[in-house]
Amino acid sequence: MDYNPLSPEVIDNPYPYYAYLREHAPVYWIEPLQAWALSRYADVDFALRNPQIFPSSGFTNQTLGDLNPTPEVPWILDMNPPDHTRLRKLVNKGFLPRLIRALEPRVHEITRQLIASLRSQTEGDLVSALSGPLPTTVIAEMLGVEAGRLDDFKRWSDGVVLGTSRPTDEAVRAYVRQSGAALRAYFEKLIERRRTDPGEDVITALVRAEEEHDMLSASEILGLAILLLLAGNETTTNLIGNAVRNLLEQPTELAKVRADRTLVPSLVEEVLRYDSPVQLLPRQTAREVELEGGKIPAGATVFLLLGAANRDARKFPEADRFDVTRNPQDHVAFGYGIHYCLGAPLARLEGRIALESLLFDCPPFTCTQECLPQIASIVVRGVQTLPLRFSASGSM
Ligand code: HEM
Repeated sequence: MDYNPLSPEVIDNPYPYYAYLREHAPVYWIEPLQAWALSRYADVDFALRNPQIFPSSGFTNQTLGDLNPTPEVPWILDMNPPDHTRLRKLVNKGFLPRLIRALEPRVHEITRQLIASLRSQTEGDLVSALSGPLPTTVIAEMLGVEAGRLDDFKRWSDGVVLGTSRPTDEAVRAYVRQSGAALRAYFEKLIERRRTDPGEDVITALVRAEEEHDMLSASEILGLAILLLLAGNETTTNLIGNAVRNLLEQPTELAKVRADRTLVPSLVEEVLRYDSPVQLLPRQTAREVELEGGKIPAGATVFLLLGAANRDARKFPEADRFDVTRNPQDHVAFGYGIHYCLGAPLARLEGRIALESLLFDCPPFTCTQECLPQIASIVVRGVQTLPLRFSASGSM
């Protein structure tokens, strides 16, 4: 069986390919991409735990290529110790758990407003009405974007996000570049202003962040602000969308959650495991390395197939079964180790609140479309649209 993450069959449903790789070719050479793929949990986990053997590289190239609006600033995702250690310590200060917990009432409020407009008609698209705008609005407010500029900000950030699908059309590419330039100019002014006029936002926290007499430079803050948009939006959108799609496809699991609201956090973890929003991470090999499934030479590009590792039955019994009561704790959907997702607590908060509101504050719903096209990406997994029809009855 040939595995190529670019092929439409794999994008549509990668799981049969992953099963084949785990069993027959756990260290697999992807000829068209000139990269190796690791699919077993043990190997992916080993790579994540050993960044000195599997350093990071190439995320920017994989996602935006030459459409990156801040090409002069290395992304934290692409960095390695000691530079990564320094930056991550400072950036953590903008994402302290208490700052995220304090957001809960506001995330509820934004969700309530978005759901009201999703339900203003009996039919609506989950992605454009809720799972898309929720993370963008939350991160915009966290970054301290003024209410009056939210629409501009959303337009620019959507424009930059378009670049992650690596468009070839020159008009689209020009639009991505313009959006990036506008977003950049906006952030440059905001960062400058926060130095003299601090607020209660992440940019202010980053401007103030100090660690052993070290501080972030303006361009580092700019790069981080733009990365936060890209790393946190589509991923969280797909967490919510994948949860709803899988629940609709498996009504017994949906009924279990509807019968017990306390299962929502477990549902969130199970979706992250079962249908991971980030399917693969790129790494390099610093030296030749011998894994359970074979050898990889030094200097090679390696894709860690998170989506395959999370379905490995050696780690998760009956891994191909979607079980909302499973509450898996050691899936690798947020990575592991030094690059562990900075936004994981925020994504969990948004996912839980959006799903609770949909399942408990809305009438029952069905999907009006049989075949849901997947986003054409080798990195993220999620549907482009998810049209829902709400039943006419009041809330459940
Ligand atoms: C369900 C939603 C999300 C998923 C599945 C996800 C997944 C990931 C993964 C797999 C990594 C590790 C990358 C690597 O090891 O190379 C990562 C890193 C990162 N994520 Fe997330 N993410 C999500 C939401 C967010 C949110 C909401 C934010 C921020 C607002 C965010 C910001 C970041 C940042 C800044 C990093 C880089 C950390 C570093 O390199 O030290 N993510 N994410």
